[in-house]
Amino acid sequence: MKSRKPLVAGNWKMNGDIVSNEHLFTGLRAALERTAISQVDIAVCPPFPYIGQAAAWLGDTGIALGAQNVAAFPNGAYTGEVSASMLADLGCRWVIVGHSERRTLAGETDGIVASKLQMALAHEIGVIACVGESLEEREAGQAEAVIGRQIDALAPVMAPLGADRIVIAYEPVWAIGTGRTASPETAQEMHAFIRARLRERGVRAADAIRILYGGSVKASNAATLFAMPDIDGGLIGGASLVADDFMNICRCAAVV
Ligand code: PGA
Repeated sequence: MKSRKPLVAGNWKMNGDIVSNEHLFTGLRAALERTAISQVDIAVCPPFPYIGQAAAWLGDTGIALGAQNVAAFPNGAYTGEVSASMLADLGCRWVIVGHSERRTLAGETDGIVASKLQMALAHEIGVIACVGESLEEREAGQAEAVIGRQIDALAPVMAPLGADRIVIAYEPVWAIGTGRTASPETAQEMHAFIRARLRERGVRAADAIRILYGGSVKASNAATLFAMPDIDGGLIGGASLVADDFMNICRCAAVV
């Protein structure tokens, strides 16, 4: 049993509608009623418009609510943005920041990701901060340099804080939605690197911070990934849209 309590978070991305979400929530509740899962924190991060629906359905399940993004600014004239205070108001416990899809599609820089982290933490929302290298960067032998740079941008904000509201997700871009998972050994190597880097940068809670793996995690590969010493759960995309698949992944985290 690890000293860090595993976290499994579902990142629904831009998927779902009222009816299909209802189906998914019913499935999650039913799976938990069949067999409760203890010793694992579970979260789901639906798209913004469905956060209210999720809050109502998750109710007393123990599954925490999260969002996929947050503004880097406080409330005000920022058309189209959603602030950390709004997420807190809606009952969000977590928010994902720095996902590679936002870094690439929305041009989010390390500096923007750090501002988002700061805004979320200021409103007592836990952050799941994503880092990851592209295939080209890995093949050029730059994976550690890229991850190191991404961690260094966040470390000053994280440095004085405890581990309860800070989670890192290592998501190699080449493994996201591709069906190609990093091997447990490759992922473990990077997780250990990230933890060492946090320590070097003076992050007080480096040893207690949970580092999740993300990128094509399925029920069939979750157990071997979660068994690695520095892999403390997962950030799950595609497989989080199917209730039984997601719950089976959560169960894999319960037994490590
Ligand atoms: P995937 O996505 O599980 O579909 O690969 C993971 C993520 O992008 O968070």
